[in-house]
Amino acid sequence: MRMRLKKHLEERIAQVSDLIVAREGDYFYKLSEKEKQALRMDLHNIFGNDRPIVLELGCGKGAWSIGMAQMYPYTNFLAVEKLSNVIVAAGEQAKAAGVNNLRFANVRAENLGYWLPKHCAQRIALNFSCPFPKKTYANRRLTSARFLELYRDLLTDDGYVTQKTDNCDFITWSAESFLENNFIVSEINTDTPLSETEPATEYETKFRADGKPIYSLSAHIAR
Ligand SMILES: C[S@@+](CC[C@H](N)C(=O)[O-])C[C@H]1O[C@@H](n2cnc3c(N)ncnc32)[C@H](O)[C@@H]1O
Repeated sequence: MRMRLKKHLEERIAQVSDLIVAREGDYFYKLSEKEKQALRMDLHNIFGNDRPIVLELGCGKGAWSIGMAQMYPYTNFLAVEKLSNVIVAAGEQAKAAGVNNLRFANVRAENLGYWLPKHCAQRIALNFSCPFPKKTYANRRLTSARFLELYRDLLTDDGYVTQKTDNCDFITWSAESFLENNFIVSEINTDTPLSETEPATEYETKFRADGKPIYSLSAHIAR
């Protein structure tokens, strides 16, 4: 049964392979450092232009990136998700929507330093990232020091990170982490209204329906 499910997943992925520009299977961990470095994407080639790039890390089924790509056709979006069985649904929906300024990377955010050129992203969006509440897993949080170091390398000079979550402890912890790691937190909101300029994410829609407050912040590198 599992083999059949896997085969079916691979068939679905093949249908959207033009949109999924990177995949990080088990092979990735067997590569030498030099081979990993050679994986770096040519973003000009992928998007066919040099327009600003927005990364969404942990895009889930892609509602936010798909909606953003439709709203902002002169910006390029790269949506990153580690789970193949989730990103495939995002790829299918993007294909149905017919957007041409959106691609997907089925990789772990922690490895983006291999996949992406330095200073390529104008914005990194962290939408309802897993809070990993256990202290022992704190370094898996997408706002932990090792990730902020990576974002420093990926962001353009005027680039910034945005975060949205339903978890008060997580946004508080993240704000401290940004400050400790030489970012300036320019905006922090404890009851973020539904945006008129950005679509809601899947999780956001669920949390808002449950009446939960949405916390958000924006941070840029201190120079
Ligand atoms: C809670 S879901 C949120 C999905 C979507 N952003 C939303 O707001 O509806 C978090 C997603 O991040 C993905 N994720 C978690 N850690 C990741 C990592 N290190 N790299 C890439 N994706 C990751 C998970 O697989 C999951 O799909």
